[in-house]
Order: sequence, then C-alpha cells, then structure tokens
Amino acid sequence: MNYLVTGGAGFIGANFVKYMLKKYEDINIVVLDKLTYAGNLGTIGEELKDSRVSFVKGDICNKELVENIFMNNDIDYVVNFAAESHVDRSIEDPGIFLKTNILGTQILMDVAKAHWTISKDEKGYPVYKDGKKFLQVSTDEVYGTLERDIPEGQSLVDNGQLTVENGLSLEELKDLFKNREAMPKVFGNKFFTEEKGLDPRSPYATSKTGADMLVRAYNETYHFPVNVTRCSNNYGPYHFPEKLIPLIIKNILEGKNLPVYGDGKQVRDWLYVEDHCKGIDMVINGGRLGEAYNIGGFNEEQNINIVKLTIDTVRKLVVDNGELKVKDQYKNVVKCPLEKINYDLITHVQDRLGHDARYAIDPAKTVKELGFYPETPFTVGIEKTIKWYLDNQEWVNEVVSGDYQKYYNEMYGKK
Ligand SMILES: NC(=O)c1ccc[n+]([C@@H]2O[C@H](COP(=O)([O-])OP(=O)(O)OC[C@H]3O[C@@H](n4cnc5c(N)ncnc54)[C@H](O)[C@@H]3O)[C@@H](O)[C@H]2O)c1
Repeated sequence: MNYLVTGGAGFIGANFVKYMLKKYEDINIVVLDKLTYAGNLGTIGEELKDSRVSFVKGDICNKELVENIFMNNDIDYVVNFAAESHVDRSIEDPGIFLKTNILGTQILMDVAKAHWTISKDEKGYPVYKDGKKFLQVSTDEVYGTLERDIPEGQSLVDNGQLTVENGLSLEELKDLFKNREAMPKVFGNKFFTEEKGLDPRSPYATSKTGADMLVRAYNETYHFPVNVTRCSNNYGPYHFPEKLIPLIIKNILEGKNLPVYGDGKQVRDWLYVEDHCKGIDMVINGGRLGEAYNIGGFNEEQNINIVKLTIDTVRKLVVDNGELKVKDQYKNVVKCPLEKINYDLITHVQDRLGHDARYAIDPAKTVKELGFYPETPFTVGIEKTIKWYLDNQEWVNEVVSGDYQKYYNEMYGKK
C-alpha cells in the first residue's frame, strides 16, 4: 500500500510513520512536510534511511507539488496531519491557520480526486479507483466545550448517565477496563459523540472545523472516499515543547516556573500517541466511507493535576533510590536542585482568551465498530513519556534551537 502522510515530521505524523513501518512490511510512505518550526526531520531520521520511505519538503497548499507526488506515486491513502496546531499561536495570528488547515486540505483533496477518478456514474457522481481513501486528522476541539458539572471527577462506571449516553453498557465498560488499575474518571455528564454539532471556539478549532466539514462535503458532493478522525489531546515522545506536557517537563528540568492558565481546572481527555496511531490505522482499514470516528483516551483530567502528576513522576524517575540525589545518568539533564522539584514551581498565569472548560471524547462508536481500545492509562503513558524526554534531551535541544534546519541542509540541501 502507498501512503501519502502529510505533516509526517511533526509530533503525531512522525509517530504514525514509525508505527506503520513497524506494523506493515509491504508499505511505502511519502512524507510531505513543510518543516515549519513544529516539523523536525531528525524525528524521522531513522525512518528516512528505510527504502520504503521518501520525503518531500513542501507545502500542502502547493498544488503543483502535490500533483507531482501523485504523478510519481500510485497513492492509495492520504493521511492528512499537516496543520498549524497551536491554539495560542492561532489567537495571535489566525491567517496561516485558515490557509494551511482549510485551503491546504482542499488542495490535497482536489488533487487526490483528480487522480483517483476513473469515470462518472449515471447520476454524474465521480467513480473512483478501488481502495482509495482520504483520512483527515481532525480534533475534539471542533465540538466546542462541555460543562464541568462534576468538578472533582467521578469514576466512569459510577456515572450512570455516561453509560447511557455513550452506548456502552456497564458490563461492556467494565470489560473494556478490566486490565486498568483504576476506572477512568469523568468530570461531567455530557460527552462529545460524532453526532454532536460542531461548535468551535478558537481560531485554531475553527480552521480545523472548516477542514472537517469540507472533507465531509466532498463525500456528499462528489462521493469522495473519506474518513474523519477526531481525537483528544495527544501526549508522548517527540512532542514539541510548546505544548503543555513537554513544556512542563522541560521547565521542571531547568528549574523554571511552570505556567498554568487560570485556576488550571480545565479538563482535557489525554490520549497516548501510539494508541492514537493504532486508532487511525483501524479507521483507514475498517472505517465506513463518509464516517467520522472519535478516538479518545478515556483519560479525563484537570490540567493542574496533569502538571502535579508530571512533577511527581519526574522526581520519581530521576531520584536515586529514594536518596536526595539525582541518578548518575541524569546528572547533566536535571539542572534544577532536587529539593526545588515540587509544586512550588507552579505559577498561575492569566487565563487563555476563550479557554474551553472541558473536552471529553466518547469513542464508543470506534470501540464498537472497529474494536478500538486506548491501552495506555495516563499513569503508565506519562511515565513512558517523561522517561523518553529524560533520555532524549538532544532531540529537545535540537528542536528548540533550530539546529534541525542544519540537519535538513546537510541531508537534503544539495539534492
Ligand atoms: N497534538 C494533539 O494533541 C492533537 C489533538 C487533536 C488533533 N490534532 C491534529 O493532529 C494533526 C497533527 O498534530 P501534531 O500535534 O502532530 O502537530 P505538529 O504541529 O506537531 O505537526 C504539524 C506538522 O505539519 C507540518 N506542516 C505545517 N504546515 C504545513 C504545510 N502548509 N504543508 C506541509 N506541512 C505542514 C509541520 O511542519 C509539522 O511537521 C494536526 O492536524 C492537529 O490538528 C492534534
């Protein structure tokens, strides 16, 4: 199978490329990435040595370039990760979000449509080559915000209303989580299901909603073969350190304040990135054409608790056998005196404009139809993630210093 993965040098795209290469022998992947500040070729450095992968530096808005990729490769699946993805940046400068996230998606679909069309049916709809699909990676932020009507959270199975709303019976839920130490928590009685109307609040979310709706409009109007996936907040290795978890890890290690918006009680659902990649693969291979699928982590938590758990976990991982001493291997990584790694580092800053109160994905449809299960509970995922950051400080320094541009020039400058 031949994949075009856009944004494959970014956080989730790169994890997806790694996941797919490991899982499938018979696969070819073209990565198209503009290498904005968020894209780092070093992230997929190993994968680029694999003969099954090729890389094209460029913009999804460049129609000629996308045409070329389709002319030179018999693309079966497009997986569109490429996007401007940081809400704070969208508040500062919405324009580039609309261009990349909406117009870029339109250009990718137009080119794919032209290359995949073989004829027209009797009603005038295009008929496509078999087995082609365009998968748009959307977000839970398209749904808007939810009430936090259970402020301190409650176990999922104690919440009778959830079991009704999300279409999984109590028994099915218990069975789903039989291997987790604790039942997931929920912070409200309503959840995002695929049927919920879209109600984005930030310029970022609105641009993603535009793309999400356009993809489904192409399915209605041209019978274009699509799926949309809407996922919760991802976390894991290779996450650019402007987003909450990697930023907090970086600041803890440097002994800097940990900025938390407002009271920090905003609730998000956290999804380990590899579980997300698995879900996308399931939708590509089994999703019904034209459908949207939620991919959630069953891991609702308040931002402030995420920050506290991150502090606790960093301490646990770097401290040598409970003594107040940093393990030898992390001596150069932990620049903050150990006694200072505590909750006093938390600094509440002015809340983000229009900050949504709660996102809570209900992935029941994806669970029931495709057998999706987010295997990684937060306590396990956060430990894996922090360990990865501790062991990969070179990557962090590279992406924040812009050194990866040098890497790009060395690898591709002369080609
Ligand atoms: N990270 C999350 O928690 C999360 C949650 C829900 C949805 N998403 C969606 O998943 C996708 C990937 O998110 P991410 O966190 O990996 O983002 P990211 O910012 O880490 O990576 C985006 C990648 O896209 C590339 N890119 C940006 N503009 C481009 C353009 N015009 N042409 C080609 N490439 C371009 C960047 O260079 C970068 O490599 C995005 O569409 C995002 O909206 C992310």
